Amino acid sequence: MLTCQRHLFDIPDDVAYLNCAYMSPLMKPALEAGTTGLARKAHPWQITPDQFFTGAEEFRSVAARLLDSSADCIAIVPSASYGIAAAARNVPINKGQSVLVLEEQFPSNYYSWLRRVAETGASLKVVAWPEDNDWTAAVLNSLTDDVAVAALPHVQWTSGGRLDLVRVGEACRKIGAALVLDLTQSLGALPFSVRDVQPDFAVAASYKWLLGPYSVGLLYVAPKWQGGTPVEENWIQRANARDFSSLILYTENYDEGARRFDMGERSNFALLPAAVRAMKQLLEWDVAQVSETAGALNRQLASAAANLGFSAPAEPLRAPHYLALRRKEAIPKELPEMLAREKVFVSIRGSSIRVAPHVYNTAEDGARLIACLRRIAAAGTSA
Ligand SMILES: Cc1ncc(COP(=O)(O)O)c(C=O)c1O
Repeated sequence: MLTCQRHLFDIPDDVAYLNCAYMSPLMKPALEAGTTGLARKAHPWQITPDQFFTGAEEFRSVAARLLDSSADCIAIVPSASYGIAAAARNVPINKGQSVLVLEEQFPSNYYSWLRRVAETGASLKVVAWPEDNDWTAAVLNSLTDDVAVAALPHVQWTSGGRLDLVRVGEACRKIGAALVLDLTQSLGALPFSVRDVQPDFAVAASYKWLLGPYSVGLLYVAPKWQGGTPVEENWIQRANARDFSSLILYTENYDEGARRFDMGERSNFALLPAAVRAMKQLLEWDVAQVSETAGALNRQLASAAANLGFSAPAEPLRAPHYLALRRKEAIPKELPEMLAREKVFVSIRGSSIRVAPHVYNTAEDGARLIACLRRIAAAGTSA
């Protein structure tokens, strides 16, 4: 387990920020890297053509280490939805087939598929919320021959329900279905390996568990799709991009590997260094340790909250870093304001209180949340 890393973050002592699933705080060294990068635009004469490539390549190689992949398989994207759009444009879907999604799946991994099935005469197949919280079993039961694509997360975003992606990947390969993953609520906080899972595409926005800035993310593209069609055509994805003087010698050829899927203006001098610095820190901490550290606090919170009438799925059906507390009575609608007044920050998603700690949280942060829950429990249905 890691010792508390709050010193690396600018979080006042009286703020109990337990909401990484909403947005992580940018750590001081990442903010510094981003600020230095942004300031470079004040002196553009010092920005050389090769710098349009070096920062991007560093991003790719650091991201690849987090995914247990290679830099050639990584594209730079602005959002999870962009990465899913790239996948949806490329995986074949035929009339009568289906695309598998979870009930209440995050919209960024839903709407692109809704469009594709409408265009192709296929349909969406929605895995119903399993009463026993076993999403893996529910998905495996739904992976029948009609499924062309399984478009899934590693961790369900409202409940923290965790899928065993190694087993899901095996089942997809058996029926010839593509596996497209949205890892936004897991990568950086839950170990993941492209070698073990073998997805076709996997995307993660950087601003949550990758501890990076908003508007940048990574897209893994398996080698078999690297000859595919990108979402957009831009100059820097092309094979001749390094030679600025001959960009208008238009070429049909793209740069190597997954680079053809890069977004326009991917060489963002402010965002990339901040994202890279944060990912390097995660690698230094080790994702398994991050998971264990957040998980230990969540286990304590789950047991304290259980005494107050709140329940949550147990591990391993629930991811360690993610705790969604429910109770029989409704959650009072004033709860978010009440918690914010106490400077305790969590999210309310549906009928759950979503608690998402990280290595900057202290036992005191947890105790303050439990004190608030105790007051709610004492007040019955109103806060
Ligand atoms: C599961 C999941 N995917 C993706 C996102 C963000 O999507 P996008 O990057 O398309 O805005 C979120 C944000 O809450 C999320 O919870």
